[in-house]
Amino acid sequence: MTSVTTAARPLPAAVRDDFPFFAPGAPGAALSYLDNAATTQKPRRMLEAMADYYTNANSNIGRGYYRLAMASTDRFEQARETVRRTIGAAEPEEIVFTAGTTAATNLLAATLGERRVGAGDKVLVTGLEHNSNLLPWKELCDRTGAELTVAAADEQGRVTPAAFAASLDDRVRLAAVAHVSNVLGTVNPVREFAAAAHARGVPLVVDGAQAVPHGRVDVRALGADFYCFSGHKVYGPMGVGVLYGRRELLSQLPPYQVGGGTVKGVRLDEPVRYVPGPARWEAGTPHVAGAVGLAAALDYLGDLGWDAVRGHGAALVRAAADALAGLDRVRIVGDPVSEPSGIVSIVVDGIHPYDVGAHLDASGVAVRCGVHCASVFLDALGLLGTVRLSFGVYNTEADVERVRAALATVKPATWTAEHPGTRFL
Ligand SMILES: Cc1ncc(COP(=O)(O)O)c(C=O)c1O
Repeated sequence: MTSVTTAARPLPAAVRDDFPFFAPGAPGAALSYLDNAATTQKPRRMLEAMADYYTNANSNIGRGYYRLAMASTDRFEQARETVRRTIGAAEPEEIVFTAGTTAATNLLAATLGERRVGAGDKVLVTGLEHNSNLLPWKELCDRTGAELTVAAADEQGRVTPAAFAASLDDRVRLAAVAHVSNVLGTVNPVREFAAAAHARGVPLVVDGAQAVPHGRVDVRALGADFYCFSGHKVYGPMGVGVLYGRRELLSQLPPYQVGGGTVKGVRLDEPVRYVPGPARWEAGTPHVAGAVGLAAALDYLGDLGWDAVRGHGAALVRAAADALAGLDRVRIVGDPVSEPSGIVSIVVDGIHPYDVGAHLDASGVAVRCGVHCASVFLDALGLLGTVRLSFGVYNTEADVERVRAALATVKPATWTAEHPGTRFL
């Protein structure tokens, strides 16, 4: 990541109180919610920002010449500026609102990909990609006759700069890499990847879905040409996300979907001229309340302190590694500790991951188990699946202790006995 601060000032103890989901009587009150890599719970401040938008500013943006519509447009553009400031982009025009990371990578495959990649070319990905940063590129390659090439992860689940550089040859026209693995929490050395890619004139797309929730990301310091993330994984709403694109490259991309808001005027007897800014890739009515909520969530994290957020996740990863180390049959996959990012994946020898998940659920712990939309990576690791603990700002060592206590008593059950080799999800 851009900086790893392990001795950060701690998060305030009352963080959990900021989240109505954990209030007394609410569904999360007695739950150890450890599925934050799938989606996070929402702070009151973000919920209130969305409610305030719908209560006091709701009207469509960009098209109405009355004060309410202009106020709505202002809120949307302020949200864009908040995202810009948070991720260190140079200009708000470099921030495109999408429906999420998946929407952003698909947009890029259909625009950047179609422009740059043809028969005989290569697209480079790493061995630990989520399907959302794998399938759009695979489909592009299948469509165009290009080749998808993979910088493999080592046995610890790491992709070294050397492995990445060795996969870059003259045929590679584009590289797309995860910043942080959603399976193991491994941090890809994106800065080194960017330097190697740029030395060959190859643009680098970064899937930051699992990085932004765990500490300050600076897209320019990383050298990312494009950077994608989802609102809902960073304490914002579902259905909104971000595509950052460095101006020189973004401005060359054609529209993706076309429709209202993307043009100044249309004549049927002329080719259509599309607007130059981010609106070109935001056809139709965008998720304005979502953008406003995402900005509120990012401001919330900024006020907590990004170093504190990173330090908190790192401390919980270390606590989990220590707590689970003494347990029979429990194995931590990869090396989540040397550069912690809020995720610890485990397997319990001889017990199907779904049996482990069901036992944890019965013990009041919510985790994701299975292949985490990354079956290619799981295959490379030689695993049926893992049980993934993923931490958020409201988790504490009490959650880790609950997991430890539950794992101490886990036994094989139906999945192990009746469907030992079955995997899905
Ligand atoms: C690394 C990574 N990339 C992409 C995605 C897809 O995100 P979304 O479903 O919000 O589009 C996820 C979701 O789990 C992810 O973990």
